[in-house]
Amino acid sequence: MSSITTQEISILRPDDWHLHLRDGAMLHTVLPDTAVRFGRAIVMPNLKPPVSSAAMAQAYRERILAALPKGSVFTPLMTLYLTEATPIEAIRAAKESGIVHAVKYYPAGATTNSENGVRDLKKVYPVLAAMEHWDLPLLLHGEVTDPVVDVFDREAVFIERHLIALRRDFPALRMVLEHVTTSAAVDFVQSAGARTAATITAHHLLLNRNAMFQGGIRPHHYCLPILKRERHREALVQAAISGNPQFFLGTDSAPHPQNAKESACGCAGIYTAHAAIELYAEVFAKANALDRLEAFASRHGPAFYGLPCNTDSITLRHESWCVPEKIGMGAEMIVPLRAGEEISWRLVGVG
Ligand code: DOR
Ligand code: ZN
Repeated sequence: MSSITTQEISILRPDDWHLHLRDGAMLHTVLPDTAVRFGRAIVMPNLKPPVSSAAMAQAYRERILAALPKGSVFTPLMTLYLTEATPIEAIRAAKESGIVHAVKYYPAGATTNSENGVRDLKKVYPVLAAMEHWDLPLLLHGEVTDPVVDVFDREAVFIERHLIALRRDFPALRMVLEHVTTSAAVDFVQSAGARTAATITAHHLLLNRNAMFQGGIRPHHYCLPILKRERHREALVQAAISGNPQFFLGTDSAPHPQNAKESACGCAGIYTAHAAIELYAEVFAKANALDRLEAFASRHGPAFYGLPCNTDSITLRHESWCVPEKIGMGAEMIVPLRAGEEISWRLVGVG
């Protein structure tokens, strides 16, 4: 059980159920931030080329393990990228590999490296049936890409046009609606039963859409799904602190080099791995719900994925610190969330 005072909180070591680690130099830059805080992470497969087979996932896993700082205890949980060409046999191979824990659906064109994603969900129905059979969860980037649908409505329209049918057509399939951003998504998950879950990011809990325009255009607050109105942020906070096991932590920490964000056509993604659990602690403390943080961060995710909880713990202290302006080196500098500003919780102990 967690131990809590107003100044310090110890919780079972959390896991990050939605993370972008990238590859190469960027992987080496970002991995230590996650590995020091989290026991495990569900690693997104949107590399170039996408991680689309168990063999590719195995090779990527080995690159991640090789990039870990000495002494880290961190387990990457791999995912496959669903394409319209994914063979049914890939699902069985993924399940039997023991290292692939889910399959990720990107609508083609929805976000970073999603060109190989799905255009027509009906085309992957046989693969979804195999996932249901082999009990391999489906992780959904739940947005439509229809250009006539307003960018702020893409999640709600995905639920209406696709998710209701998916839930009906594959009743036993475990599904995670990733990085939920709207009250419509919260309502859907709550009504959809225990095989449906959702991850919630720190940035969607902390920021509403005004953050993209505060005093000027703020590319480092641009992510997908895009930040929403204050009332949606409030609905997410209520879901996160509710104790409902269908909601758990997934940062969607998504590093891009500074020049790719500060550009005429900037990439979507917010980097939060440098302070992920601390940012969630701020949200829970502000909502007077620090006693629910352990459930959301360390218990609900493993229960949904059928894995044991971590057995070690971390300690956070209510103490301000200043986030560096930049993280990394050379051409691959990242501007993290809260760059040059304070965070009110500090990681002080691990183990
Ligand atoms: O903001 C985002 N960044 N949303 C995504 O869906 C993808 C991610 C990335 O990979 O950069
Ligand atoms: Zn993501």
